[in-house]
Amino acid sequence: MRIYSAIQPTGCITIGNYIGAVKNWLAMQDGNECIFSIANQHALTVRQDPQEFRARTLSFFAQFLACGLDPEKSILYVQSHVPQHSELAWILSCMTYIGELDRMTQFKDKSRKNEDNINAGLLTYPVLMAADILLYKADVVPVGKDQKQHLELTRDIAIRFNNRFGETFVVPEPYIPKQGAKITSLQNPLEKMSKSDKDANAMVSIIDPPDAIMRKFKRAVTDSDNRIVFSEDKPGISNLLSIYSAFTGESIEEAEKRFEGKGYGDFKLAVGEAVVDALTPIRNKYAEYLSDKAELERIMKEGAEKASRIAERTLQKVKKKIGFII
Ligand code: TYM
Repeated sequence: MRIYSAIQPTGCITIGNYIGAVKNWLAMQDGNECIFSIANQHALTVRQDPQEFRARTLSFFAQFLACGLDPEKSILYVQSHVPQHSELAWILSCMTYIGELDRMTQFKDKSRKNEDNINAGLLTYPVLMAADILLYKADVVPVGKDQKQHLELTRDIAIRFNNRFGETFVVPEPYIPKQGAKITSLQNPLEKMSKSDKDANAMVSIIDPPDAIMRKFKRAVTDSDNRIVFSEDKPGISNLLSIYSAFTGESIEEAEKRFEGKGYGDFKLAVGEAVVDALTPIRNKYAEYLSDKAELERIMKEGAEKASRIAERTLQKVKKKIGFII
């Protein structure tokens, strides 16, 4: 199967991104044709300082490699190195209705949070995302829950195009994990853990140092009684159980049993330690990868060439179908 997914280089890669997306990408690398990108064109929908933006793109790429995404197995690249994305996005934007776009919950959310910069890109963002996916004829797109609506729109756009011009795009299936598809903020367990949260205690980056990770878990907001069980009315503890389970491989039920009768303090420490144990090797490898920028750039360019070959084939087909002279 062809797998496609991407992450925007904003803020930092959090354990939410890791559990909801990257962890599943790693599991899919063997036996599938995987393509993963750093969606830096998407990140332009918020104002970026050019120097920081460049550095963060490199840093995210190094984090991809440190997590175990392997350029020998998967195509890893940076979106802006493959111009076909914007070309297809324009074509698809002429086949997408404003009504479909301004109903997107993420557009409404982001507009509310960035009142001084509601740019056109923020609205047309899902069309670029559809172009990303459809260019590569992806069968499956592993994402967290917050991307579900964008995936549904991608499917609608693909079906609409195919109906009008004949079979061109593969209609992709989202893959949203049953557990961990929405890791929540450590400070407000009712909200998604966001990689650009201004409160550093609300999220854990996959390259946070161990003492910061421990501190954040110790301060994590929990619920009122002292029972460690997974339940809807205990969002804080349920979130911590999901995190613990994702990093140890233990099921939620096993974890509930392990911590039966224990207090929240002990539990939070154990979650912190499990996360530190899992992330320490990633953090070490990250430092190694980041120290060789020339090699990082070489790997990303090689990925872009491979991606571009696939993307160009689809784009040519699209252009022919819609009546461009090619
Ligand atoms: P982004 O960069 O916000 O997030 C990257 C991935 O992480 C998932 N995710 C989470 N999963 C669980 N809990 C959370 N708290 C959490 N926060 C984020 C997201 O669902 C996503 O899978 N538009 C996309 C990037 C993108 C893309 C694409 C994805 C661009 N083109 C094509 C798939 C296919 C985004 O902003 O993800």
